[in-house]
Amino acid sequence: MDTVSNAVHYIFLAAAACFVLGLHLMNHPRTARRGNTLSAGAMAVAIGATVWLVADQDRISSTGWLVLVSGGVLGAALGLWAAREVQMTAMPQLVSLFNAVGGGAAALIAVNDLLQAEDAVLLGARVSLPGALDIVIGAVTFSGSLIAAGKLQGVVSGAPVVFPGARLLNVLLPTAFVVGTVWLVLAPDSRTALYGLVAVALLFGVTMVLPIGGADMPVVIALLNAFTGSAVAMAGFVLDETALIIAGMLVSASGGILTKLMADAMNRSIANIVIGGFGTGDTAAPVEDGAPAQVRSVSADDVAIQLAYARKVIFVPGYGLAAAQAQHELGDLAKLLTDHGIDVSYAVHPVAGRMPGHMNVLLAEANVPYTQLKEMDDVNPAFPQADVALVIGANDVTNPIARRPGNAISGMPILDVDKAKSVVVIKRSMGHGYAGIDNELYTDPRTGMFFTDAKRGLAELKTAVGEFVG
Ligand code: TAP
Repeated sequence: MDTVSNAVHYIFLAAAACFVLGLHLMNHPRTARRGNTLSAGAMAVAIGATVWLVADQDRISSTGWLVLVSGGVLGAALGLWAAREVQMTAMPQLVSLFNAVGGGAAALIAVNDLLQAEDAVLLGARVSLPGALDIVIGAVTFSGSLIAAGKLQGVVSGAPVVFPGARLLNVLLPTAFVVGTVWLVLAPDSRTALYGLVAVALLFGVTMVLPIGGADMPVVIALLNAFTGSAVAMAGFVLDETALIIAGMLVSASGGILTKLMADAMNRSIANIVIGGFGTGDTAAPVEDGAPAQVRSVSADDVAIQLAYARKVIFVPGYGLAAAQAQHELGDLAKLLTDHGIDVSYAVHPVAGRMPGHMNVLLAEANVPYTQLKEMDDVNPAFPQADVALVIGANDVTNPIARRPGNAISGMPILDVDKAKSVVVIKRSMGHGYAGIDNELYTDPRTGMFFTDAKRGLAELKTAVGEFVG
């Protein structure tokens, strides 16, 4: 190995160490930004080192350089624009598009490798087995992620799309993968095996994701993210690039763990989600003539009095907060109460919202102090001491019915909001949450329902509390 390749391999090793450290830093909101910057910086350095190696070995033509530089600039510009401009509620779709790009690129690497090799013997099983796996996983991720993004964006129906013979097709297609993979390993120069495998994998991505309901998409996206990582790792084997293998495996492992954590927090198995979910998350049953009789409706002034005279208030944010983009109004109200000497905290359920860490990111946007953010297990014992639990657009994650068997959310761990001395819920109607079931919390005598849009309601509360605390 010459000096440049040696240096580049050390750079790859350092980059891989930074990826691991970056992931570790993402454990806590305070250090997450640094972790992200470190990992992104390490990736930039690894890309630079690859370009250096390629230039040193004089491996690409001038047209190749043109493609490489223009592709890099275009991709970086698009990624930067999307990450800055896309709304927080649209982040799951963006992540899904990034997965599609990652999986598709990894699959193309293997396709290119197999097309370029003129001598089948040169390829052998070393390249063709990871190559075939790269194609299968990468192409499934590409088409599956595009459908997932389409469902979340509303371009593809969020309802489970099932057609006659779909289940049979989903059994036949993986069988075709096995046949195609064995064929490609035995005959790496067979174009029929190569193109057939690509086509089957692309089709499977579509038929796998179409029957899954839109509200399950965040879990599917985490799963597809794990697939992207595996495809990238396989591409690393094809290219014999250690950094790619390590980065891919890290994405694969963390995506897999995240998928498991999300499924556990919803008390469902991954198989149950992939085979068929419930609801689309868009069900909102309108209330006729306000609230039903057993529900106590309250006004901004009623709630403001309770808040102003409370000693301890726990905010419970949910999907409705994100949908209304009301994080700044919530942050302002909390600050007003804190300045008045009231103990304020935020109870964050692991799957509140529609993507992992949704609430943490929103609240960080509103500059909420990290010390006030409490995870479910830490905050649940504190509810009995809370004078007011103010729920903002959260539904299923507060529903006491989860403690009983025989319903859609049985066994799902919940925030013990009903144990607070008094509860106020801000939402627009008696509409259901993602699970599509009634919430017993709303008919509890200690609960007051403040029927309004979260952004408007919190702004009204801030004004009303301001008048009381002067
Ligand atoms: P949900 O149970 O979906 O309830 C959200 C509530 O927000 C709705 O009942 C809705 O009621 C209200 N809302 C919507 N827009 C609003 C607005 N502009 N202003 C005020 N309220 C508004 O949300 P959650 O409690 O956060 O629970 C999350 C659910 O998603 C769980 O069932 C969870 O399992 C599921 N899920 C989460 C994830 C992740 S990773 N977070 C992944 C997959 C599934 P109105 O229509 O009456 O206003």
